[in-house]
Amino acid sequence: MASPAAPFALLLLLVSLAIAAAQQLPSRTNSSDAAALHAVFKQWKLQGDPAPPAYDPCEKLIWHNSSAMEASINCSCAPSTPPPTTKCRITHLNVTGFRNITFIPEELFNLTELVSLDLSNNNLSGPITPNIANLTKLEIWWMFDNNIDGKVPEFIADFTNLKDLRIYGMKLRGPIPNKFSNMANLTYLMIGDLDGDNFPFDFIGDWANISVLDLRSNNLTGPIKQVLQDNRRVQHLDVTYNPLLNGSLSNIFSDGSEEVSLLNCLDMKECNQTVNNTVPFAVNCGGKEYTSDLLQTVFHDDSTDLRSAGFHIDSSNSWVVSHVGADPFSNSTGIVNTTKNISGTDMLELYRTARTSTGSLWYYVVGLTSGRYTVQLFFAEIVIESESGRRLFNIDIQDQNIRADFDIFKEAGGFNKSTNINYTANVTTSVLKIHLYWNGRGTCCIPRNGTYGPLISAIRVFPYTEAQASPPPAPHTSRRDEKRRGVVAGIAALSIAAAVISSSVVYLWWKWVSLVKHRKA
Ligand SMILES: *[C@@H]1O[C@H](CO)[C@@H](O)[C@H](O)[C@H]1NC(C)=O
Ligand SMILES: *[C@@H]1O[C@H](CO)[C@@H](O)[C@H](O)[C@H]1NC(C)=O
Ligand SMILES: *[C@@H]1O[C@H](CO)[C@@H](O)[C@H](O)[C@H]1NC(C)=O
Ligand SMILES: *[C@@H]1O[C@H](CO)[C@@H](O)[C@H](O)[C@H]1NC(C)=O
Ligand SMILES: *[C@@H]1O[C@H](CO)[C@@H](O)[C@H](O)[C@H]1NC(C)=O
Ligand SMILES: *[C@@H]1O[C@H](CO)[C@@H](O)[C@H](O)[C@H]1NC(C)=O
Ligand SMILES: *[C@@H]1O[C@H](CO)[C@@H](O)[C@H](O)[C@H]1NC(C)=O
Ligand SMILES: *[C@@H]1O[C@H](CO)[C@@H](O)[C@H](O)[C@H]1NC(C)=O
Ligand SMILES: *[C@@H]1O[C@H](CO)[C@@H](O)[C@H](O)[C@H]1NC(C)=O
Ligand SMILES: *[C@@H]1O[C@H](CO)[C@@H](O)[C@H](O)[C@H]1NC(C)=O
Ligand SMILES: *[C@@H]1O[C@H](CO)[C@@H](O)[C@H](O)[C@H]1NC(C)=O
Ligand SMILES: *[C@@H]1O[C@H](CO)[C@@H](O)[C@H](O)[C@H]1NC(C)=O
Repeated sequence: MASPAAPFALLLLLVSLAIAAAQQLPSRTNSSDAAALHAVFKQWKLQGDPAPPAYDPCEKLIWHNSSAMEASINCSCAPSTPPPTTKCRITHLNVTGFRNITFIPEELFNLTELVSLDLSNNNLSGPITPNIANLTKLEIWWMFDNNIDGKVPEFIADFTNLKDLRIYGMKLRGPIPNKFSNMANLTYLMIGDLDGDNFPFDFIGDWANISVLDLRSNNLTGPIKQVLQDNRRVQHLDVTYNPLLNGSLSNIFSDGSEEVSLLNCLDMKECNQTVNNTVPFAVNCGGKEYTSDLLQTVFHDDSTDLRSAGFHIDSSNSWVVSHVGADPFSNSTGIVNTTKNISGTDMLELYRTARTSTGSLWYYVVGLTSGRYTVQLFFAEIVIESESGRRLFNIDIQDQNIRADFDIFKEAGGFNKSTNINYTANVTTSVLKIHLYWNGRGTCCIPRNGTYGPLISAIRVFPYTEAQASPPPAPHTSRRDEKRRGVVAGIAALSIAAAVISSSVVYLWWKWVSLVKHRKA
């Protein structure tokens, strides 16, 4: 027999449903914004069609949120008639990390209240469409790491509210239009990797709030002094990889600051004194000293924390490591580690620690007798687990580019897998230079901000023999040489100097200056 309470409960349910239906608030999201967002997300296949019942994006906010990708919005709500309802406009749109997103649907430009637009780390292609100029309220616009091409459009300068513009790691062409100097509110400007003819600094304006100015790899010309004089407030200035830039630190610190003397070793010729190193020579990058019986090699300890920029001269005086971060927003120590297994090797300890940098890593091996050497570089991707993150970097040895867009994950065939490369280099001035650097490509933030740029597990250098199967010859013994310290100090200066300023690299970061002063104290 059914409980007499059952029909009553059903009635109660129906009544409460009716009340709920009667009380259901109208959509809070402005209907034009809701329609535009739906049209955009439909084309990006982030949402089905038609929109789900009671579709109200400002009540939802998050479509995707994983370590690799994010699709989210934010809204700003104001009271509207009749009270007490509010109407919400979409003010933030953040769709990043979707490698299957290749175009911007026109409807996106109907979201005219957008203040922040982040479409970084997707696969967008084609030029920057003029319709984006409809988003006149934009203050933050990120579009780095896509395949956008064409010239940097002048109309960007009409975004007078723009505070934070980041468009690098794409296929854009220079120059940066001079009109950019009008963008009075700029605080962060990061434009890099522009193709095309060289152009001067005429786009620099009197930007009262500028704090980060990142102009990597743009074929800029002219004196850098101007930039600094005009922008005393810049805290982070990166003008690396602009081969035609001229100027020098001594120009800038014309007050004769002491650090200028450190730069006198800029040209290798002045640091050109032969001393003997011990070969095979090896470093366990980011890790502790490690002895491999198999390779008859001691890998030097390289566990010094170099923070966001710094260098370390090994106590053996036979090598120097220098690191310069390119990411003004990262506090990474530059050393990463794992306790996981690394496949494809018996030398786990070499791969379980690594040195990384969001900018550049230099290793200088000092005091090698002239000759041909095999440089063996060891890698394992121990940070980025999924394929949606891409760590791409360049490798130069003795100023020769030997790999561009090197991708450890791809080379090794996955995460926590070892790989190595060999290169035969000639040493003539006692110094071997190994330079690993970010070139603006690859993802920036997977799994977290600042996860990009070079990563290296170990380095080994041994005399080149025609038949590389034969074991390396017995090590020379290092000779104590008073001159050596001078050479190494010179190289250390060079490593900073090369980072700060040289014919091919100009880099300034005020932090370094204090760092150099600190070390001298
Ligand atoms: C976008 O704006 C255009 C022009 O104002 C209008 O014709 C179109 O219907 C809008 N599209 C959506 C999806 O809101
Ligand atoms: C892209 O990938 C995401 C996540 O896997 C998926 O939800 C979406 O439908 C895909 N979009 C397209 C345009 O294929
Ligand atoms: C967009 O989302 C990503 C991932 O959460 C975040 O790192 C980034 O700062 C957001 N972009 C903006 C402009 O806030
Ligand atoms: C953008 O603005 C242009 C002219 O200002 C207008 O013709 C166009 O319809 C607008 N596009 C959208 C999507 O609102
Ligand atoms: C941009 O700068 C102008 C002039 O200094 C100022 O009136 C305006 O409010 C600023 N915009 C923002 C969004 O801060
Ligand atoms: C830089 O500009 C010069 C002169 O316009 C040009 O010859 C050169 O190819 C450019 N370099 C790059 C890397 O695009
Ligand atoms: C530096 O070394 C090279 C090669 O050994 C030599 O040709 C050159 O003269 C040296 N330069 C100086 C300044 O000693
Ligand atoms: C380096 O070592 C070799 C072999 O021990 C020796 O012949 C040579 O004189 C040394 N050179 C210097 C500059 O010390
Ligand atoms: C990095 O460190 C500095 C100084 O310790 C701190 O002010 C800043 O907020 C930190 N930045 C991040 C992104 O953690
Ligand atoms: C590994 O990295 C973590 C986090 O950075 C650190 O706390 C720990 O001390 C490191 N372990 C080793 C063995 O270096
Ligand atoms: C590099 O050289 C070493 C020593 O000869 C060898 O064991 C290793 O397999 C070589 N690596 C590659 C990728 O050829
Ligand atoms: C190194 O020197 C050898 C012999 O002189 C030459 O054949 C080779 O091309 C040189 N290698 C590099 C990378 O310059």
